[in-house]
Amino acid sequence: MKTIRIFDTTLRDGEQAAGGSLTIDEKMEIGRQLQRLGVTVIEAGFPSTSPGDFEAVQLMSRELRDVEIAALSGYGENLVEKTWEALKEAERPLLHTVISTSDNHLKSQLKMSRKDVLELTKRTVTFSRQLVPHVEFSAMDATRSDPAFVAQVLGVAVAAGATVVNIPDTVGYTMPEEFEELIGYCMENVPGISEVIVSVHCHDDLGHAAANSLAGVRMGATQIECTINGVGERAGNASLEEIVMALRTRQDFYNADTAIKSEEIYRASRITSNYMGMPVPPNKAVVGSNAFAHSSGLHQDGMLKDRSTYEIMKAEDVGQAQSKIVLGKFSGRHAFRNHLSSMGIDFEDDTEFQHAFDTFKRVADRKKEITDRDVEAIVQDRLHRSIEEKYRLELLQVQCGTSGVPTATVRLKTPDGSTVEDAALGDGPVDAVYKAITRIVDMPVTLTEFAISAVTEDTDAIGEVTIRVVSGNRTATGYGADTDIVVASAHAFVNGLNRLATESAIVGSDERQAASV
Ligand code: KIV
Ligand code: ZN
Repeated sequence: MKTIRIFDTTLRDGEQAAGGSLTIDEKMEIGRQLQRLGVTVIEAGFPSTSPGDFEAVQLMSRELRDVEIAALSGYGENLVEKTWEALKEAERPLLHTVISTSDNHLKSQLKMSRKDVLELTKRTVTFSRQLVPHVEFSAMDATRSDPAFVAQVLGVAVAAGATVVNIPDTVGYTMPEEFEELIGYCMENVPGISEVIVSVHCHDDLGHAAANSLAGVRMGATQIECTINGVGERAGNASLEEIVMALRTRQDFYNADTAIKSEEIYRASRITSNYMGMPVPPNKAVVGSNAFAHSSGLHQDGMLKDRSTYEIMKAEDVGQAQSKIVLGKFSGRHAFRNHLSSMGIDFEDDTEFQHAFDTFKRVADRKKEITDRDVEAIVQDRLHRSIEEKYRLELLQVQCGTSGVPTATVRLKTPDGSTVEDAALGDGPVDAVYKAITRIVDMPVTLTEFAISAVTEDTDAIGEVTIRVVSGNRTATGYGADTDIVVASAHAFVNGLNRLATESAIVGSDERQAASV
């Protein structure tokens, strides 16, 4: 049985998703969860493209042990040196270099000849290997390239010392059978390929990213690059949870598995979705809320007789089992802290812990039983608010119902320290609240997305609100959780505004868009 390396690129390619930028604290939190999940490699960022990415790679290299930390570099000595500077404190560094190989990219984007690409590959990989023993080389847009040229470039990379060669379907263009052919061709025609790790990296533009990645494994690839929830550039990357559970469930077919602790998948999915402001659709494979729900009478009948009639995986195997009741309104600080620890959450900052505890007490007063999902939502809400609170919601009053016009009064603490109160009418309570807040804040802002969901069943559930706001050319997400969904909506909006107002807090894609590989 082969063990496939899981190279997670949620924090690099995943963060390139439009509007999916993360703060450094959020990146660290996701990084820690990826480590608990047991991925082989965490690609932590693209240091040469933004100071925020540089810092995130550096912090992750310092803190996360027992896992390979990768950072992406463009070609040429200068970019490699800068990338290495961010990565050098990692216990197991992997320097990832990339050059395009398709004639399309060569002509239209890079203005280079094939000979230039061969020379740059040799120079970049040789130089990288002088700095670090583990170097990956990616042939960008490989699936739209001449296979003979891809094999030639990969051969040069291997000869120059690459320890991993990656064959990406950069634009999600290939079909599984075609991809199998390309990987098979490279396996036969790249000198020395049997001595290195062969990796695949597929995008989901035509919905084939997971299938293509698995086709690569069938032809001998031993590393898959993927992201939690399949987040990423355009339609995203291959989704980690789909690949991991396909290999685990169909070991008989692939004769391969991964080292992933699958019970940590659901939590990784929730954290990523929350921080990136990208809700998971209910029917999403493995992590969607309906992925293990059986509604038709026929299916329910089968399930009651034998789960295997309609289930190929168990919800508990991916950490998606029924949420357990863990705490109540009489639970104290100690019980709350212990429970957080058992979930792998440790607040280093006592003030932050106290804020989370206060929120827990407030929720527990209104909601009899607190489940682990509630605790998670409370913590997410706190972590989101750990961003500098230039604006803080101090009071909210709403009037709405079947008669009259919905009205909201809000009081906000503003960046200059003063407290401002205003009121507005709206076509619903949330509209009225957002209008009242917008009257106070000192920037033009448009709400482009709003999603609300219940954390658990029943009417006393915590409601989670995720929003996206745009001001000028900046986009930010916001998150809020509360048993009162209008309050949660207000917190989400204020959180989004704080992110827009804190220029330096957003790292990644906004800045990266201006940079090129
Ligand atoms: O999609 C792609 O080709 C990439 C490379 C940097 C591997 O993300
Ligand atoms: Zn990619």
